[in-house]
Amino acid sequence: MTSVTIRRPDDLHLHLRDGEPMRSILPFTAARFARALVMPNLRPPVTTTEQALAYRRRILDALPSGMDFEPLMAIYLTDRTEPAEVERAKASRHIVGFKLYPAGATTHSDAGVTDIRRVDAVLSRMEEQDLVLEVHGEVTDPEVDVFDREARFIDGVLAPLARRFPRLRIVFEHITTRAAVEFVLGSRAGIAATVTPQHLLMNRNALFAGGIRPHHYCLPVLKSQADREALLNAVASGDSRFFLGTDSAPHARAAKETACGCAGIFSAHGAIELYAEAFESAGALARLEAFASGHGADFYRLPRNQGRLTLVKAAWEVPRAYPFGAEQIVPLRAGEHIAWRLAEEQ
Ligand code: DOR
Ligand code: ZN
Repeated sequence: MTSVTIRRPDDLHLHLRDGEPMRSILPFTAARFARALVMPNLRPPVTTTEQALAYRRRILDALPSGMDFEPLMAIYLTDRTEPAEVERAKASRHIVGFKLYPAGATTHSDAGVTDIRRVDAVLSRMEEQDLVLEVHGEVTDPEVDVFDREARFIDGVLAPLARRFPRLRIVFEHITTRAAVEFVLGSRAGIAATVTPQHLLMNRNALFAGGIRPHHYCLPVLKSQADREALLNAVASGDSRFFLGTDSAPHARAAKETACGCAGIFSAHGAIELYAEAFESAGALARLEAFASGHGADFYRLPRNQGRLTLVKAAWEVPRAYPFGAEQIVPLRAGEHIAWRLAEEQ
């Protein structure tokens, strides 16, 4: 049987939520990833070091005994974030960055930043302290076509920001377009991007295959086949500026299957397996390890993980739903197959 063994990976963009729903899904991530950068868009958002450390503690408390997993934390930037929060975050040693949600761009982003200039003092302090800025890169103007919002963000916000703070390290999160790939490739040192499994495996046709597919809806939304190919080429090239961040974003079934469904695709149940499919399809399975377990750790200046993880090429059927607190969650590929699975003995 074909198998691949890689250094244990890191998920550098993950939504875990909180409470019982978190307890239901955390083991999926901890079984695969040694560390994950946990997004702070709770309700209310995680806007201070104190809140981030308390959230980290709740994550560790929810971890089943015997599982070895380290949450890395980020703070949610708002118009009112104090520059002094940067020093507090740095001193905590568990916080690796601040997340920029343009207000209104996505799920639970209403407390986000209304104008990037309002956080200039914080960004300047981050540059001094060398904390990373994680960016949800979409403009929020409702007049802008939803498929163009990432490209417009690059020209209108991200490129000027990277110039104004030339030493600020920035992760352009969950990139979806050829324009984003080209921006990263053409940019100064200190700029990188995460890529999700869904944007490598699907294009926007998947939103409408045989009818509307709420479980394929995430933000930034799936893009064209040409964009998808640009992402595949970028990760398959082995360029160290591209690394793994699933953006696994669980929402209860009822919040997805409704007249106005939430954005977010849940992939934690099969995340590394789905990336293996994507890399294999691009003829680049040998590059999976660096993407999953090397580039991101290096960018965040974390030691690479010591453990190993083995994947075998053996298709399995994904359950139609998993428990999610008192509710249910519909995972990516529900009722269908994933071509790779984790080896029994890790
Ligand atoms: O699809 C998404 N879901 N995109 C985001 O940016 C946020 C996430 C969530 O929290 O559900
Ligand atoms: Zn996200």
